[in-house]
Amino acid sequence: MSYVIGVDLGTSAVKVLLVNHNGKVVKEASREYPVINSQSGYSEQDPEDWVNGTFQALKEITSSLAADEKIDSISFAGQMHGLVMVDEGGKVIRPAILWNDTRTTEQCHDIVNTLGNEKLFELTKNPALEGFTLPKMLWVKKHEPENWQRLYQFMLPKDYVRYRMTGEMAMDLSDAAGTLLLNVEKGEWSSEVLKAFKIEESRCPKLLFSTDQTGELLPDVISETGLNASVKVFAGGADNACGAIGAGVLKEGLSMCSIGTSGVVLSYEKRGDLDFEGKVHYFNHGVPDAYYTMGVTLAAGDSLYWYRKNFAPDLSFDELIQEAALTPAGAEGLVFTPYISGERTPYADAIVRGSFIGIDKRHTRGHFTRAVLEGITFSLNESLNIFRDRDKVIDQIVSIGGGAKSDFWLQLQADIFDAEILKLNSEQGPGMGAAMIAAVGSGWFNDLTECADRFLAVGTVVKPNMENKEFYKSLFSVYKQVYNQTKEISRMLNECKERVVK
Ligand code: XUL
Repeated sequence: MSYVIGVDLGTSAVKVLLVNHNGKVVKEASREYPVINSQSGYSEQDPEDWVNGTFQALKEITSSLAADEKIDSISFAGQMHGLVMVDEGGKVIRPAILWNDTRTTEQCHDIVNTLGNEKLFELTKNPALEGFTLPKMLWVKKHEPENWQRLYQFMLPKDYVRYRMTGEMAMDLSDAAGTLLLNVEKGEWSSEVLKAFKIEESRCPKLLFSTDQTGELLPDVISETGLNASVKVFAGGADNACGAIGAGVLKEGLSMCSIGTSGVVLSYEKRGDLDFEGKVHYFNHGVPDAYYTMGVTLAAGDSLYWYRKNFAPDLSFDELIQEAALTPAGAEGLVFTPYISGERTPYADAIVRGSFIGIDKRHTRGHFTRAVLEGITFSLNESLNIFRDRDKVIDQIVSIGGGAKSDFWLQLQADIFDAEILKLNSEQGPGMGAAMIAAVGSGWFNDLTECADRFLAVGTVVKPNMENKEFYKSLFSVYKQVYNQTKEISRMLNECKERVVK
């Protein structure tokens, strides 16, 4: 009996899946770790926490195996864009700066002023956004020159964990696409971008495809994790690319909605030479010579998590959502915008903050929860509309992540997105995509599509409710106005906040 392992290195936890030849998860283990928010807008993690969590979870998995059970290979999905800096000895120089850190607005302006948006889109296909890796590198260069001097290579989160397991520094294309240093169409580091910002190419890791094998397990890792020396290691991919693989989004016409800490709507693209004018992210897929476009809500599940932590710590997420379901669609005039950490798509704005609008003394906690769920889903619908405005037909969407765990939220997605929502039989998120990469790498299947045919099956199809769909269409047109009507207020409040902090 042999298995593959998919590791999903998320923002709040690492999840490790042990998967058999039919795509069944036979065991899973996870470990949580903290995010360090030392200042408003800062979001960092200690890469050592990722390594410890991953190794412990792997040990838990390997300890459960019988003598005749073996692991063929392992691969990784990882939170994107996070800057990990290592020195010549491979030591981490400073805490990793994560995808949802928004300290780099000035560096984003510098990038646009230096290259111009047209050139930037031509080379990288993407806009300069605070979350991406290049602005973080420029921030370190300016504010921590001594750390910048020590930089030997930079890595992304899952690449660092894989490096600690094999000693080999490498990065796959789907994750490299989110650095703003990659020529996405050509699949190589952009010498023009590197030159413009005086970054030596030697500081960028070797590029691989997701299914490429990279390095061998180090002896101390073998003893610490219980993995056998014969376990093959494959590069893996960005969590969103792996989420798409694990959702079977492997051909034109398929789309996915993933609600985790962040929320994304993503659509497969077979061409890499289109121009979306930076309105959506345009990245390499985990499938060679394929791409995807994506819109990101920075705080999707995170908004619900924040809300529960502060206002309903004694309720489980299920109980919270049950209360919301008792209130009518539209929460009787209460609207929430999920900009609690700023926003990405369609408003690239690190300063804007969220709001509850229309609070009435009749409103109960259930109304507020419903408004939070609707606001998150409206925000994702704004991204979906960018695709639709370009004549893309999106009538079926595979839903994954926390948003797919609740029937109520699945129905909300169907009603607000005005599309059929597909829920997989056994939905495992990016970790399943990583396991599929390992399975293909190990030769279990010829390609990811063949693997998806065996591993994945749609369990439920949720259709829009005609009445709610029409109602949400009109409420959405109100929701869409909130950004423009509150962004200036957010800016003024931010100035007040800074004056008090100083
Ligand atoms: C995508 C993004 C997030 C992270 C979450 O651009 O920043 O979805 O990948 O892990």
